[in-house]
Amino acid sequence: MSDFEEIINNRRSIREYTKQDVSDEDILKILKAGMQAPGSRLGAEPWEFVVIRNRETLDKIAEIKPRVKTAPVAILLVANIERAFYKLHWQQDMSAAAENMLLEAVNLGLGGLWNGVAPTEETMEKIAGIFGLDNENQIPFCIITIGYPAEGWENKFMDKFDDSRIHYEKY
Ligand SMILES: Cc1cc2nc3c(=O)[nH]c(=O)nc-3n(C[C@H](O)[C@H](O)[C@H](O)COP(=O)(O)O)c2cc1C
Repeated sequence: MSDFEEIINNRRSIREYTKQDVSDEDILKILKAGMQAPGSRLGAEPWEFVVIRNRETLDKIAEIKPRVKTAPVAILLVANIERAFYKLHWQQDMSAAAENMLLEAVNLGLGGLWNGVAPTEETMEKIAGIFGLDNENQIPFCIITIGYPAEGWENKFMDKFDDSRIHYEKY
């Protein structure tokens, strides 16, 4: 199996982390992976990222998204619609970036979790409040928690393949 296949197959949602910190270098690699994602218009992607290490802020977020509780670092993905060329495609642009980031975390021996924010209005409002996102062009999309997996959590293969979902030539 290639490294690539191993990363794709072994990525799991890691919801609890050890206290070990994640290096700035690794966070930068994860951010770079996010920005390598396909986007609806090259150069006009809506992505912006807030790296959060401050424990007080993380705890505040954990009141809304409980899986942030043990994470040493989280990254809030903000869709800045003013940057976007295709204004309606932001959820797709953001999703592509988020998945790349989760895969890079696995590549680095880390665990990650996609903590959903959009499109749940109440959650979006609360997260926007914490970060002072104060207009409709700055949309909190999701929060990716990153850390070293706690005991009982690991990136390992789970077979999700289901051939009943595959159609050839005709639906
Ligand atoms: C849009 C989206 C939102 C998600 N939100 C959460 C969340 O808020 N909390 C959580 O624990 N997992 C969340 N997840 C992770 C899924 O629960 C997880 O990917 C799914 O159960 C499959 O498990 P796997 O990631 O290990 O393959 C989210 C995933 C996606 C794609």
